[in-house]
Amino acid sequence: MRDYHEYLKEILVSEEALQARIVELGAEISRDYQGEELLLVCILRGGVMFMTDLMRHLDVPHAIEFMAVSSYGVGKRQTSGQARITLDLNTDILDKHVLIVEDIIDSGHTLAAVVGMLSSRNPASLHICTLLDKVSRREVDMPIRYTGFEIEDKFVFGYGLDLDEYYRNLPFIGVVDLDKFENPEAS
Ligand code: IMP
Ligand code: MG
Repeated sequence: MRDYHEYLKEILVSEEALQARIVELGAEISRDYQGEELLLVCILRGGVMFMTDLMRHLDVPHAIEFMAVSSYGVGKRQTSGQARITLDLNTDILDKHVLIVEDIIDSGHTLAAVVGMLSSRNPASLHICTLLDKVSRREVDMPIRYTGFEIEDKFVFGYGLDLDEYYRNLPFIGVVDLDKFENPEAS
């Protein structure tokens, strides 16, 4: 893997903007769940950075859990209608207030699978918190309670989101130069 600079077209959301928005989201969620206990369900692997930062700004008691979903893509960077749960929760969510923490919603198929599965277990409530939302790409309608940023239809990486599994560690959200990434020798 090469240095990320080679594939970075532009920084879409800076580290400062991300962190400032996460402080706001934390305050909003803390207000909404005042007096309740919360279970954060992080969708692996993209949601990890976001959840660990977000939970530092929550002042309601909360536990964390993890789920993983694999999507069968129609293209390499696109999910299809098929999503399969590959890692399930270790906790019973009956009567719990569950908040799903996701990196990005694109077509919505991944989250639709997660919501379908979790809602059948009768939690007290089930809501979604996503850092990024590519609204124009939505194929499955879904109410999103908390959104960090609505973004255009561009392939992004960093801050949990990967480019073929790498670069999740970058502290900002960048737009990928897909031409350069897919034809590294051309330039
Ligand atoms: P959906 O099922 O189409 O909503 O796709 C959601 C999943 O696709 C996310 O959880 C990400 O893992 C991945 N994804 C969608 N767009 C991007 C992107 O721009 N960069 C990195 N991963 C993405
Ligand atoms: Mg993901």
